[in-house]
Formats: sequence, C-alpha cells, structure tokens
Amino acid sequence: MVANIKSRILSVGTYVPDTVLTNEHFESYLETTDEWIASRTGIRERRVVGKENPMSAADMGCRAARVALERAGIAAADIDGIIVATFTPDNIFPSTACMMQHDLGCTGAFAFDISAACAGFTYALTVANNMIVSGQAKTMLVVGTEITSKTLDWNDRGTCILFGDGAGVVVLQADESGRRDRGILSCHLSADGSMGNLLMLPLWGEERFLKMKGNEVFKHAVRMMADASVKAAEMAGFKIEDIDFLVPHQANIRIVQSVAEQLAVPLDKVVINVEKYGNTSSASIPLALEEAWLDGRVKEGSKLLFVGVGGGFTIGSAVCVI
Ligand SMILES: CC(C)(COP(=O)(O)OP(=O)(O)OC[C@H]1O[C@@H](n2cnc3c(N)ncnc32)[C@H](O)[C@@H]1OP(=O)(O)O)[C@@H](O)C(=O)NCCC(=O)NCCS
Repeated sequence: MVANIKSRILSVGTYVPDTVLTNEHFESYLETTDEWIASRTGIRERRVVGKENPMSAADMGCRAARVALERAGIAAADIDGIIVATFTPDNIFPSTACMMQHDLGCTGAFAFDISAACAGFTYALTVANNMIVSGQAKTMLVVGTEITSKTLDWNDRGTCILFGDGAGVVVLQADESGRRDRGILSCHLSADGSMGNLLMLPLWGEERFLKMKGNEVFKHAVRMMADASVKAAEMAGFKIEDIDFLVPHQANIRIVQSVAEQLAVPLDKVVINVEKYGNTSSASIPLALEEAWLDGRVKEGSKLLFVGVGGGFTIGSAVCVI
C-alpha cells in the first residue's frame, strides 16, 4: 500500500463515428417527430457506426485512447492497466480491454472489462482509482466505449431514438506530489438488482434487444443520481454548491435537469451535450468532460462531480479536482 497517493486525470480523449442520424431519420419510418424526441429527451442527433464504416468497440476505444495519450504526453508502453466499461463488447472474450491493449501496444498493461451499463465509466474510474491508490498501478486508461446501435430494436420508438455510439478515455495517473487537494477525492458505488427488469439487454434468445420501461427508469434514475451526487460530495468534504461542474451521464435532458433541480445546481454548472450524441452509455461522461475541458470551462483546479446510473441498476459517482 502506498500511503497518501491520489490519482489524477491527466487528459481525456474521445471518438465518435462520422455517421449522423438526425431525428428526421426516425420521422421517415416511425410514428414520431423531431419535436417529440427533442422535447422529451433533448436529443437532436446521434452518431452511429454505419455499415459503410464498420468498427468494433475496441477500435473506437483505441481512437479515443490515442487522443488521450497524446494529450497527456504518455507513451502506450507506460500504461500499467486498461479498464474498459462497455455493454457492447466485441466478444465475451478476449475482452475489449485485451483487444485495445494489443492494438495500442500497451504491452506492459493488465486489461479487463467491467459490466455496469450506463454507470460503467464511474465504476471503471472507481476501480482504477483504487488500484492506483493501493500501489498496484501507476498509470491507467479508463475507457467507456459503446456501439449501442447494434443492441437496438430500430422499430421500437421508445428506445431506438435515445441511444448513440461513441467512446471516451481518460488517462489516470498517481500524483506523486503528495498533494491532498486535487485528483480523485471520492468515489461512491452502489447497485439495486431488484429493478433489473426495468432496463435490460438479454445476451441469448430471440429478443436480443435493449428493452426498457422508460418512465419507471426515469423516476428511479433521478433519485439515484441525486442521492449518489450528495454522497460523493460529502465523502470529498464538499457541499454540492462547492462543485464547479456537474458532469452527469447524458441519458436524457429531462433526467439531467431534474437531478440538477433536486440538487439546486444551476444549469450553467451542468455539462450537457446529449443533443449531439444521445445516450452513449459509458462513453457519455468522458464525452461531456472533453467538451467542457476543450472549451475552457474545465481547467486546473476545477471541482467536478461525475454521476451515472445504468441498467442493473448500477449507480456511481466521483468527485475529481483537475
Ligand atoms: C423514453 C422516454 C423519453 C419516454 O417519454 P415518456 O414521457 O415517459 O413517455 P411514455 O413512455 O410515458 O409514453 C407516452 C406515449 O409516448 C409514446 N412514445 C414513446 N416513444 C415515442 C416516440 N419516439 N415518439 C412518439 N411517441 C412516443 C408512447 O408509446 C406513449 O404512447 P401512448 O400514450 O399512446 O401509449 C422517457 O420515459 C425517458 O426518457 N425515460 C428514461 C430513459 C433513459 O434515459 N434510459 C436510460 C437510463 S441510463
């Protein structure tokens, strides 16, 4: 055990496929409208891996990882571990993380996937942080990569309009400065398997589509994300109002707005980009983080609160000072 080490996010990188599906696309064959989708979900368009440009979750994760590594100035050979959160792995095994380890040339890294659906990024970040603070690794890639488009029933208007494909990666490294006021200050995970049937993706059988009881998921997601946010803030020694930016899982604008309202966080302190990408599951928090980092909202010293909820149910939150 290495005493007093904290882990820091050095950089973030993302990748989204080129193919854009706008809400108008769904109007062309489903009983739905751009107005309905935008007003109920905040989503205007999403990216999908098209047939013309086939990619795996590992391919997308590698593209995002190369950007993150370059921004951090870290060589692939210096990565000690790769954790991939995904509900769309290419195989049961080899894991997406092992495929990425090979493609990236992270020859010295251990690699594994975790399954926590849309809370995947917060789960992976928590595990990676714990491995770093316990001295098992110094520099890690935390990856969320999803091809949600291959899990959807494109005739189910209640689900197919919500999701998109994408990948996001952060480079997490031990901060050897001994500073206690920056890096990952807290992580909080929980789960509630009793409601697993509200949001599920069967692996076998005829109906291998993502299925959801939308309005029930909505209700629980808001409560779970608000509670988890308060827990992570408290564990970090902060009040919610001390946080500079809430960077939530981008499930749906109404979920995000309701969470912000419950927490009394003004919307200008919430990073939202669901209108461009839809729900990209484990990739959504790094996609939002990158946007706020690149446009200058997030900078050194920013206090961020990540929070996500996903099928399972899984719930995760973390406070990070950049
Ligand atoms: C899916 C969601 C947008 C549906 O909105 P809602 O206001 O709850 O709508 P409901 O499910 O109650 O359905 C209301 C009506 O809209 C219809 N509807 C559903 N999708 C529609 C669409 N894309 N276009 C038009 N009508 C639609 C329903 O069939 C229903 O019609 P009915 O009254 O004739 O039966 C909303 O429940 C939601 O965002 N849930 C959370 C989903 C989520 O984020 N999951 C991932 C969490 S990680």
